[in-house]
Amino acid sequence: MAEKIHLKLRIRRYQPERNPKAWWDEYELEMGPMDRLLDALNEVKWHHDGTLAMRRSCAHGICGSDAMLINGRNALACKVMVKDIAPKARVEPLRGLPVIRDLIVDMEPFFAGYRSVLPYLVNDEEPPDTERLQTPEEHAEFEDTTKCILCACCTTSCPIFWGDDGYVGPAAIVNAHRFIFDSRDEAGRTRMKILAGKTGAFRCRTTFNCTEACPRTIKVTRAIQEVKRATLFDRF
Ligand code: SF4
Ligand code: F3S
Ligand code: FES
Repeated sequence: MAEKIHLKLRIRRYQPERNPKAWWDEYELEMGPMDRLLDALNEVKWHHDGTLAMRRSCAHGICGSDAMLINGRNALACKVMVKDIAPKARVEPLRGLPVIRDLIVDMEPFFAGYRSVLPYLVNDEEPPDTERLQTPEEHAEFEDTTKCILCACCTTSCPIFWGDDGYVGPAAIVNAHRFIFDSRDEAGRTRMKILAGKTGAFRCRTTFNCTEACPRTIKVTRAIQEVKRATLFDRF
């Protein structure tokens, strides 16, 4: 039988009806060699304290719902192996967004920034009979930013976002980049006008926390720089 891994897991809790202040709970767990941190959190929820509140769905790094602060770094719990963090780990809700309960934060400010950049294809021309064509070279210009799963790891690791709730944040700019550089889209100028404003791309101070935090390895800071450059030199 495979050897068990001992994990002392500290979880930051917040349940206002039980205690108006946040507190830490600690659990001693025996986990398997292939378990992820999400398995450890499920173990707590299913066998130690059913009131633990957290978001998760796919368990495969696709839905983006289990982003949290793990030993001081943003990551998806389903992508962190227990063997890589044992014997001790500390789990907290994402920073910079209001905590609703335990590991669940209010994502509305994050999605408000996302919605503000028109994160969808805009093209009022009559659609062709087949798809709107594009060359591989044209597609390569924005391929990296299509990988975003809206997990918020980038935005909630950005010190400018923590300090100024007006900044749209790196995830919103990544999603603007995805359409600004798409040859089939016609709203690049409108998006760049939005991002040239005081809550937009020029608030970024190239701290790179966002790039380090991205579980999809998107070059977030580079995308932001490309958007800034396109805005300055009016690429469109
Ligand atoms: Fe998550 Fe990366 Fe998208 Fe940011 S850019 S929301 S870190 S997938
Ligand atoms: Fe923030 Fe990333 Fe810029 S962490 S300051 S958006 S490089
Ligand atoms: Fe879907 Fe982790 S549960 S990304």
